[in-house]
Amino acid sequence: MHHNPHPSALIDRFGRKVDYVRLSITDRCDFRCVYCMSEDVQFLPRDEVLTLEECSRIVKAFVSLGVKKVRITGGEPLVRKDALWLFNKISRLPGLNELVITTNGSQLEHQALVLKQAGVRRINISLDSLDAARFRKITRVGDLDKVLRGIAAAKQAGFEKIKLNTLLMHGINDDEALPLVAFAIEQGIDISFIEEMPLGSVHYHRNSSYVSNEDTLKLLRARYDLINSVESTGGPARYWRIPNTKTKIGFISPHSHNFCESCNRVRISSKGELFPCLGHENKVDLIPVLRDFPHNDRPLIEAIIEGIKIKPKGHDFDIKRAEPAVIRFMSYTGG
Ligand code: 5AD
Ligand code: SF4
Repeated sequence: MHHNPHPSALIDRFGRKVDYVRLSITDRCDFRCVYCMSEDVQFLPRDEVLTLEECSRIVKAFVSLGVKKVRITGGEPLVRKDALWLFNKISRLPGLNELVITTNGSQLEHQALVLKQAGVRRINISLDSLDAARFRKITRVGDLDKVLRGIAAAKQAGFEKIKLNTLLMHGINDDEALPLVAFAIEQGIDISFIEEMPLGSVHYHRNSSYVSNEDTLKLLRARYDLINSVESTGGPARYWRIPNTKTKIGFISPHSHNFCESCNRVRISSKGELFPCLGHENKVDLIPVLRDFPHNDRPLIEAIIEGIKIKPKGHDFDIKRAEPAVIRFMSYTGG
């Protein structure tokens, strides 16, 4: 029973086909990364957050509309109770090619294997430092050893791909680009460097912490013969291979406008807001259609199609602006 009511309904006004959804299943996190949250962050009341049943309905609706890839994010998705129920429910939907997650790694030591068994294919793990004290400083509460054991468990579980996500901050961890790449090579996994985005207001100064990927690339090219990889995910990432290793290095540059024209994704916050662009306020609220029509997904599908119609042409980030362009936190929109 997998009819496809709208095989190409998710094409926006600029001809872009949306086949990738990033869904935040919780705004909560067990870490408090300095660039992501303030220390005294207030999380959403439970009844404002999507239930896992609602998450499942949303994913099913998108997949029926032609979405091929779903990334589950947070907050920290693995702190959500029964997240595994959701993964099992959606991972084998006909038409869905890839179910992947982004995690801080804190729960992987115990969950890696069951995640793999639940049909999660690939996993991104945030890692900003290999120094325990520094890791603690950046995450405010995180335990590096636990995350390293989580990475080991993920390798053991045999995911198709494991990728580290690293955010470098000037004067905090920008001397760790080379050690982190060396670690990725040693582990036989990939690593991506993410430029900091001015999302949400945090109690530290982004302007002075910002490290450009251009500088990081320059630094790494002085040490490795990087080979430009043709691979594209339709996103803001560029990839390089390191000869004689299994490791690819990605550079995710949200400040670059070049990728908007090939943007294939939308985001859904843990509050059920469909955000067609990370850098815009436009949204469609899915909770009303989900809760007013618990047994009918038609209105949900209409709302999703509406959301794709308002996908803007491009975004507008400026790290030097006094106020953030968009005041949502990553933990809220789901990266
Ligand atoms: N800019 C860029 N990346 C961010 N992340 C969290 N907040 C920001 C931000 N303001 C990233 C983390 C993590 C991923 C889930 O989101 O580095 O790797
Ligand atoms: Fe949690 Fe990720 Fe935000 Fe860190 S960056 S506080 S791990 S959601």
